[in-house]
Amino acid sequence: MQFHKNKEKVLIIDFGSQVTKLIARRIRELGVYSEVITPKALNKLSNFKNIKGLIFSGGPSTVTISKFQTVPKEIFKKKIPILGICYGLQLIAKLFGGKIKPSKKTREFGRAILIKKNTSLLTKNYLNTSKLVWMSHEDAVIKLPKNFKTVASTKNSKLTIIENTKNKIYGVQFHPEVTHTDNGKQIFKNFLFLICKIKQKWSPASQEKRLIEEIKNKVKDNKVICALSGGVDSSVAALLINKAIKKNLICIMVDTGLMRKNEFQHTYKIFKKKYKLNVKLIKASNLFFSKLKNISNPEKKRKIIGNLFIKIFEKESKKYSNVKYLAQGTLYPDIIESRSSTGSKTSKIKSHHNVGGLPKKMNLNLIEPLKEFFKDEVRILGRSLGLVKNINFKHPFPGPGLGIRIVGSITSERVRILQEADYIYIRELIKSGLYDKIWQAYAALLPIKTVGVMGDSRTYENICLLRAVTSEDGMTADYFSFPKNFMDNISNKIINNVKGINRVVYDITSKPPSTIELE
Ligand code: XMP
Repeated sequence: MQFHKNKEKVLIIDFGSQVTKLIARRIRELGVYSEVITPKALNKLSNFKNIKGLIFSGGPSTVTISKFQTVPKEIFKKKIPILGICYGLQLIAKLFGGKIKPSKKTREFGRAILIKKNTSLLTKNYLNTSKLVWMSHEDAVIKLPKNFKTVASTKNSKLTIIENTKNKIYGVQFHPEVTHTDNGKQIFKNFLFLICKIKQKWSPASQEKRLIEEIKNKVKDNKVICALSGGVDSSVAALLINKAIKKNLICIMVDTGLMRKNEFQHTYKIFKKKYKLNVKLIKASNLFFSKLKNISNPEKKRKIIGNLFIKIFEKESKKYSNVKYLAQGTLYPDIIESRSSTGSKTSKIKSHHNVGGLPKKMNLNLIEPLKEFFKDEVRILGRSLGLVKNINFKHPFPGPGLGIRIVGSITSERVRILQEADYIYIRELIKSGLYDKIWQAYAALLPIKTVGVMGDSRTYENICLLRAVTSEDGMTADYFSFPKNFMDNISNKIINNVKGINRVVYDITSKPPSTIELE
């Protein structure tokens, strides 16, 4: 399914790579609208009028088996420029008579260095400066397909960039969409502007008017209900819907008691007073704490919090008549991931809870105004809607909140201790100008106590763990390298100001093997 049939765009055919969505993001970052579709959807496509370029993504499958995932051969006759990435390159090579082999000698994982063989429009202003690329392939093209030429090789693999300029078909074995590839953006720039000759027309902020009109036309005089968490997605969705239907939007904020210090009240006030939204605050922390008493299993905690949230939300929403729609802050990556090209589901690591996963049995129609946008695009929309910076650029925060950052059982006292430590940590990050360089940062409490000495007395108190990661989309992450003076400072500040903590540790694991949250 495509969102905008009449908009000029680049279509990305998803062969199941974990990073397909990054291709779409990179292209949109360059001011060109792009959408991701499955190979099946491409098969059914009949109107190619507004398709200015096609990109075949990478993927886990292989073209060395008899039934491989493919594209209709007629696609190559439509004179639409094509770029194949990883599996996409191998598919092109296969369909044009090249040879592909799985081989220990040619496989490459991680970094590789490009060696220039020929000039090409695709590598203009690229190969002379940037040669470090990121690889993830077992199969490799070992015989050039007919009418193709080699643009670059690596030590292990001879055919790393290939092209057929007559038909405007290009292929790269590496992943220009990931940040580990040096200046991969230039490859996309060249493909879009030199090869597809497409114009820069896309900007998320310019979509505001259209989105508001669409909401108005869809909702008419009915009511929309929305769970507002104060995170970026639900906040932008609420502001947008409010602009369209005003008082017919009912926002419900459930205070679980598991939010950051002062945050919930602060957010409530902003939406009520500054934006004048119709918002109701439900104070439910006692209920949450009582149901979570003595529960330390992470999955149990997540289920209790998620189910309680839904129950409260359902109960509240029944108090309003004429509600026909439920608003959710679903984003484009959720849509891409929910229609996997292979139909396979990745194994479940944690049961996620967020306000976006609200009850299906409520029998309400969904309204998802952000479903065509990436998170950074939502922030651009947020800015144009006047969303305050401290909400618009806030780090992601999990639905179960501090509940999954207190390892072991949750008590109101442990929540208080953690809120204080986390407050100091985040405040110091903002003060030192580091907050915006970090994708997500938080403090957590570990379930053990250790001995310390303060003044002349022995203490036996909690350990506070600090986490800060850089990431692109939360799927993978690296720990953030703090300057030494920040580290020296923060441990002191937390211990001196928070009674109940006598040791601070910093988490230096990446994801994988760890996850970002502790539970
Ligand atoms: P993990 O811990 O899985 O986290 O590496 C990846 C990202 O997801 C966030 N997260 C959640 N977000 N509901 C949410 O809305 C959840 O239940 C949940 N669990 C984790 C986490 O904060 C990180 O940004």
